[in-house]
Amino acid sequence: MIVVFGSLNMDIIVRVPHLPEPGETVLAPEHRTAPGGKGANQAVAAARAGARVAMAGCVGADDNGRDLAAVIGREGVDTGLISVGGKPTALAMIPVDGAGANQIVVSSGANGEARQDRVTDDVLGAASTLLLQHEVPRAENIALARRARAAGLRVILNAAPAAPVVPETLDLLVVNEVEAGVVGGALGIPSGDPLDLAQALADGAGLATVVTLGERGCIAVAPGERWRVAGLAVRAIDSVGAGDAFCGTLAAALDAGLALVDALRRATVAGALACLEPGAMPALPHAASVDARLAELAPPVPL
Ligand code: RIB
Repeated sequence: MIVVFGSLNMDIIVRVPHLPEPGETVLAPEHRTAPGGKGANQAVAAARAGARVAMAGCVGADDNGRDLAAVIGREGVDTGLISVGGKPTALAMIPVDGAGANQIVVSSGANGEARQDRVTDDVLGAASTLLLQHEVPRAENIALARRARAAGLRVILNAAPAAPVVPETLDLLVVNEVEAGVVGGALGIPSGDPLDLAQALADGAGLATVVTLGERGCIAVAPGERWRVAGLAVRAIDSVGAGDAFCGTLAAALDAGLALVDALRRATVAGALACLEPGAMPALPHAASVDARLAELAPPVPL
């Protein structure tokens, strides 16, 4: 079982002619709301990939919070560890331009009240993987990661939004190129090449690191192995949630016992397929869709 400790946001998505510059106002014809949050998205991505998933986090005592819990519950995610805090459910404002590029601003609200002690030792004892992101308090993430490692779980962190990490609390780190720069800088590994960061983490902390490269696929370094997985060619319309599809699918595949390189291939396809529909959670692919496109992927290349 995978435990996801993370954010639950209601996304407000607006199609704009161009993303606003600082100080600029941009008009959008309308907005759409959709369930989201990196935590909730990754929980649903893992469930759609076939994993048993429990989600821990915090929502407000409001309609958005109730809707989010209900939506992910209908996906088969166990919502019993989601608490109700004193602040409103988080909102994410997401303008998307005509080329599918986006900006995201999250008003954290109840995500800031997520507490790791909600994930009891009993729950950790029944789980095999813990999946984390950076939209809930960092100290809670670190404390839960330490407990999970001590209990023998695989701990995966998607360091999004970018912030420093504590390598010894993790088994696997997933970052994009921007996040790799921030994580590397904080650890004193300032090289601009994400491969250098990944290799340094593998050598120094025994950590597996995956760096996602957008439509170019990903690279990964783990002790004793280095891979490049090419991207799946798709006509992307909206990349919001692609990283979450990647992380949830990767966690599900590893939790099911797949080798790292095979899990990376499934995650890469899932990330690409998430770009074919607008929004984050609604666009997350099911296992069958990933299966159907897997053969189109170029063979992985050992580096
Ligand atoms: O990764 C996409 C997600 O980031 C959105 O659903 C939004 O809520 C933000 O957390």
